Amino acid sequence: MDFFEVKDGRMHAEGVALARIADEVGTPVYVYSAGTLRRHARVFHEALSGLDRPLVAFAVKANPNVAVLKLLGQEGFGADVVSEGEMRRALAAGIAPERIVFSGVGKTDGEMRAALEAGILQLNVESEGELRRLSAVAAACGTTAEIAIRVNPDVDAGTLAKISTGKAENKFGVPLDRVEALYAEAAALPGIRPIGVAAHIGSQLFDLAPLEAAYAKLGALVGRLRSAGQVVSRVDLGGGLGIPYDPKLPLPPSPADYGAMVERVTKGWDVRLMFEPGRLIAGNAGVLLARVVTVKTGATRSFVVLDAAMNDLIRPTLYGVYHDIRAVEPRAGEMVATVVGPVCETGDMFAEGRTITPVEEGDLVCLMTAGAYGATMAGTYNSRPLVPEVLVDGDRYSVIRARQTIEELVGADLVPEWL
Ligand code: LLP
Repeated sequence: MDFFEVKDGRMHAEGVALARIADEVGTPVYVYSAGTLRRHARVFHEALSGLDRPLVAFAVKANPNVAVLKLLGQEGFGADVVSEGEMRRALAAGIAPERIVFSGVGKTDGEMRAALEAGILQLNVESEGELRRLSAVAAACGTTAEIAIRVNPDVDAGTLAKISTGKAENKFGVPLDRVEALYAEAAALPGIRPIGVAAHIGSQLFDLAPLEAAYAKLGALVGRLRSAGQVVSRVDLGGGLGIPYDPKLPLPPSPADYGAMVERVTKGWDVRLMFEPGRLIAGNAGVLLARVVTVKTGATRSFVVLDAAMNDLIRPTLYGVYHDIRAVEPRAGEMVATVVGPVCETGDMFAEGRTITPVEEGDLVCLMTAGAYGATMAGTYNSRPLVPEVLVDGDRYSVIRARQTIEELVGADLVPEWL
């Protein structure tokens, strides 16, 4: 459910015509809908309403714009961060440190120190070496780190290999059979207080069964830890719920289905549950608005060449995944087009042989469902400046990240004086 709709023949984000944003801000540009973000946040909270004080920490990696984080903070969300940069953004957005959890497989000593100095709620520890380094850093800071052990439950999430994180061969988490020993070591280390366990098995999941299997393993683990005399007061269930990208495919499980499953599986755990949704909240709340530079007839097919490229939205190139492509002012009829960007790689392709409404040079199009893992994964390949981001709320909009200028792009290079 989102608020990007065609009204009077022109697509709007809530009350603002996308053509107006394109004229005033230029293209390509990411456009987010505040109403959609709020709605998704509320639907997720509603789905968890049967639980006791759940903490929902938005996975900042999905959309780290400070304005987006501020909006979600106002909805009661915390933040799940994986770098000092993400933590600083969450703090800059006014998210309280007690609502921030730091995940990630390679936290540096500097990042651990920054997290402890900021006083965040919890660090999710992913290895023996990391635990021992954290102990030394915390002891040196004269503080105690509350930690959860991230478990690798060896569950196949049934999603793309590149975004699966819970199989034994993946780099994430501590193998289940080593968690109890590590928890006991943590309890004995200076500067460390183990308070729980965590898991995140993958992203864009269309089936609740792997999540349920992973959670069941966590539940059994909590029982074993308690039998061994350990304190377990929090369990972090990660993120991962899938969202619809292709309108022709069946819908993913709803947040309500997910909430009901969680309630059933975690009954009696007697812990505070934490969640780290990213895509579910931000994905359908954003589009990448682009202009058709030209329509080119090749020897065997027609190419629609946009002013947006793989450096702006890399998901189709990186994962081969589908993003719906819609004309902002749809014309009658249809055309079969291969929709590409101007970057000098054949892989710079948003869709191959896709049936879309006909477009012509100068038309505006939207790459839908680009609010998560869109702008955040952008780069400047081919020396293309980072594109701006806009937040629409009702009838108003603001630029929430300015377009990088060519001067900034070129000016960041430093030429040694000896050249
Ligand atoms: N928690 C942890 C520890 C994570 O690693 C992730 C995502 C999340 C939560 C949020 O997962 P979500 O609810 O958004 O599925 N770039 C890829 C997605 C990578 C996800 C990485 N981790 C894509 O564009 O599909």
